[in-house]
Amino acid sequence: MSKGNDKDKVDPNRRAVVVGGAAAVAGIAAGILIGGNAFPKLETQSITKTVVKPEVQKVTVTQPVTSVQAYQKQKVANYSQLQVGNPMPVTYMGYSAYIVRTGTPSIGGVGPNGDVVGYSAVCVHMGGPVQYDPNTHCGVCPYHYSQYDVTRDGMPVIGHPNQYLPMLVLEYDSSTGDIYALGFNRLFYGVYNNIAQASTSSSS
Ligand code: FES
Repeated sequence: MSKGNDKDKVDPNRRAVVVGGAAAVAGIAAGILIGGNAFPKLETQSITKTVVKPEVQKVTVTQPVTSVQAYQKQKVANYSQLQVGNPMPVTYMGYSAYIVRTGTPSIGGVGPNGDVVGYSAVCVHMGGPVQYDPNTHCGVCPYHYSQYDVTRDGMPVIGHPNQYLPMLVLEYDSSTGDIYALGFNRLFYGVYNNIAQASTSSSS
């Protein structure tokens, strides 16, 4: 009899073990839950952004370019305009020059008497302005007093230059008296190519 009653009795030690085990399980579960919150996972997020790139605008600029390919034939005077010893300034393809009747047959001279010549108005020494002297038939530079004989192909006769003064090659039309420039026979002062660095500006 006492044995049946013993079945219904709970061993206090066994009960404590059961209660303790349940508490331990609950504690582990809570730990996992708390631990999961204490160390949140790092997540990789994909963010889509719209980047606006500044557009490079292409601008087309059209400029008229006048290229000179060769010497031009240009009317520079009429024989009737010229007086002996009185030079006429002209601009030929952008270059400063002058036409003059020397009054004596001259190398390269045109016209009825072969005395009309044309020359650069710029000294080949250092670019000074060459002025014609009717008394000597020379182009004279006031900078360093060099002189070029324009009856003898522009030969330097006094001063520093070691080059001739560039001659403006002329053509004479006997039917009209018109005088044309056809080009320089030597390099103009300050340029490396008379034609390449010429411009279309001119005067007569
Ligand atoms: S620049 Fe003409 S002589 Fe010197």
